[in-house]
Amino acid sequence: MDYDIADIKLKEAGATRIEWAGRQMPVLRLIRERFAADQLLTGERIGCCLHVTSETANLMRTLQAGGAEVALCASNPLSTQDEVAASMVADYEVAVYARHSEDRDTYYQHINQVLDINPTITIDDGADLISTLHSQRQEQIEGIKAGMEETTTGVIRLRAMAADGALRYPLIAVNDANTKHLFDNYYGTGQSTIDGILRATNILIAGKNLVVCGYGDCGRGVAMRAAGMGAKVIICEVEPLRALRAAMDGYQVMPIGEAAQIGDIFVTVTGDKSVIRREHFAVMKDGAVLANSGHFDVEIDLTDLRDISTSVRTIRPNLEAYHLEDGRQLFVIGQGRLANLAAAEGHPASVMDMSFSNQALCAEYVAGLGEPLPVAVHTVPQHIDEQIAALKLKTMGISIDSLTPQQEEYLSSWEMGT
Ligand code: ADE
Repeated sequence: MDYDIADIKLKEAGATRIEWAGRQMPVLRLIRERFAADQLLTGERIGCCLHVTSETANLMRTLQAGGAEVALCASNPLSTQDEVAASMVADYEVAVYARHSEDRDTYYQHINQVLDINPTITIDDGADLISTLHSQRQEQIEGIKAGMEETTTGVIRLRAMAADGALRYPLIAVNDANTKHLFDNYYGTGQSTIDGILRATNILIAGKNLVVCGYGDCGRGVAMRAAGMGAKVIICEVEPLRALRAAMDGYQVMPIGEAAQIGDIFVTVTGDKSVIRREHFAVMKDGAVLANSGHFDVEIDLTDLRDISTSVRTIRPNLEAYHLEDGRQLFVIGQGRLANLAAAEGHPASVMDMSFSNQALCAEYVAGLGEPLPVAVHTVPQHIDEQIAALKLKTMGISIDSLTPQQEEYLSSWEMGT
């Protein structure tokens, strides 16, 4: 089997990490057991570009259990857990192409190696497989039944492709499933971003002005956890509805130009580029900490920051000090890449349980389609979303009420009022 990883000797440490994550992914385990019995993914080749973590390893095991051949590359050069990659290769025979801190050329070489398996299904986190297929390997597209996209940023990219008429195969926006974005983006990004900031800096959050740029599900999660730790949270937004929601949730809302002057910690979670840029760095306090938790490393404009810096030095693992001409220092976590994955371990397994159960069940859904899906960006079928919510509740030992026949009737009638 072909693969390219840092060191196969790390496999034992990886195996225990995969085991630990697996304990907290009971829904995926149930799906894996069923997949092993049903074998409905037999004959499928699934090309995956995801964060190479212990949670992803459990998704790979699940797809394999269903009979699929899988190949995996990283969706971010800094999130790869080398020991997990080693165990996936040695213990699970997953063709992994990922090395922590790989350079840009290696990153794209690995994407191409995954595409060399001629996937029938793709799974992306950020749409890099999809965009490589569309820009450089169009001849393979015909053999692809459909793909899944994990994250908000990727889905935005895909919708832009569809709007341009550039999309050539059907995609399912796993990100948009309720059991994904209402949990992974909110609780996962909320907790793991704070985790990344703490591991990189070990600063006290209480009493700090913490600025969150973007009040989508991820921004709301970060704001909630930061406020819970005693930060004075400031929200910057461009969408009036989201800004209004932030204000009603009790946060200060202001433009980044103002927030830049008073923030101690900044977190970007917008999905857009240059959210914090030259004019903002110019007015920041000495010692300000900058973290990005959006998918790509474009939200904090590091080209601008480098331009106005006299030097850059690593002061702690995953923390770089930028020295400005006027003597101030600004501190950037994880080179402006996803702080939760670069400086910590990403979302906890129990939330990835739901996200990756969506991926697994969508793969099965695509494999079982009689007719191909129309070329478009599709939502996850509702029955899959509902099944995952029901299974998650069950594995948490929570039972819920069901409607009485009278209540059912009341809900479906329009004649009954008071
Ligand atoms: N995205 C965010 N957290 C993740 C994790 N732990 N594993 C894979 N993908 C992730």
